[in-house]
Amino acid sequence: MQTAQRIAALPPYLFAEIDRKISEKRAQGVDVISFGVGDPDQPTPAHIVAAMQAAAADPSTHQYPSYYGMPEFRAAIARWYATRFGVTLDPGSQIQPCIGSKEGIAHLATAFVDPGDVVYVPDPAYPVYEIGTLLAGGRVEVLPLTPDNGFFPDLSTFQPAPNTKILWLNYPTNPCAAVATRAQLQTAVDACREHGILLAYDNAYSEMTFDGFVAPSVLECEGAFETAIEFHSLSKTYNMTGWRIGWACGSTQAVEALGRVKTNIDSGIFNAIQQAGIAALDGPQEPLADLRAMYQRRRDLVVSTLRDIGIDLTPPRGSVFVWVPVPQGHDSASFATLLLEEAGVVVPPGRGYGPSGEGFVRFSLTVPDDRLEEGLARIRKAL
Ligand SMILES: Cc1ncc(COP(=O)(O)O)c(C=O)c1O
Repeated sequence: MQTAQRIAALPPYLFAEIDRKISEKRAQGVDVISFGVGDPDQPTPAHIVAAMQAAAADPSTHQYPSYYGMPEFRAAIARWYATRFGVTLDPGSQIQPCIGSKEGIAHLATAFVDPGDVVYVPDPAYPVYEIGTLLAGGRVEVLPLTPDNGFFPDLSTFQPAPNTKILWLNYPTNPCAAVATRAQLQTAVDACREHGILLAYDNAYSEMTFDGFVAPSVLECEGAFETAIEFHSLSKTYNMTGWRIGWACGSTQAVEALGRVKTNIDSGIFNAIQQAGIAALDGPQEPLADLRAMYQRRRDLVVSTLRDIGIDLTPPRGSVFVWVPVPQGHDSASFATLLLEEAGVVVPPGRGYGPSGEGFVRFSLTVPDDRLEEGLARIRKAL
């Protein structure tokens, strides 16, 4: 039996590697604390769970869902976009529900990228932009995100390679925890319109912001509907990572193309989960305010502890991460190894997110308070 070249070319998924290391350490009896994956530790709000329970008991939800999502779910997304961003979406042609945004992100390249085509991805970045491109036979070019450019690429002089199809951006960023203003996003919209390429914007962390920062949608920008598709998710906003529900919205052409791929690959999201999604988007938003306050408190604890031990940090204003420069004399892998060996704490090395991630490690804030405090106390002692 021989597997395809296309999977041989894939790097191992970063978190599969990290899980392996954690299991190894645990097998040695170490009480490992993982600041690894950005998976919310808090439960899904009760009213959302109740909506799912009621819907699951209704036999009308038990059959194949619509490929395009329930009209009621798409309408709830449109209402939420109007309220939250002041953006008007046509539920019939500008929204495509996805089985979590990861699924849509991975499949976008199938709709746009032919073998040899070029996709620009931020470096460092959430790995799926690159993986989707590679699976479609595309070639990746990187847009480095560094402290020097404020973790936002200068697109004013952007000259894409021939056959460029997509440019990916993600703010608030995983892993750099940087945020972007609407004016910055406008430069990306302008560049993509000028060159006739799709701007794929990942807004999964739009609600995870601090110190009063309000993250924009790329669809607020002038001309965005001609060139942009935005991915969104209920995962982080409502602690629903396990439910697998998100969506893509924006350019009618891009939404239609992604939908065409999906109708041939999957059969949509369980209708009871879509009902829960409606409850999330239309329901009380107070749990979200509490969640934000909790992450901000945790962020402050991480930042102040690391500053105390001599690591210079600016508190990030978005995402559920802190992007931490490694101390002198270390690279990202050696520092991550030191934290695991000396403190039993797991952090992903920045290099795993791309070459420009070298020199950083990522701390996730989705760790229960007592474990976060314990992990930080161990780090303080070890360093
Ligand atoms: C930047 C970013 N985008 C998208 C996702 C995928 O989220 P989901 O598939 O749960 O919607 C993640 C998950 O961690 C992420 O960090």
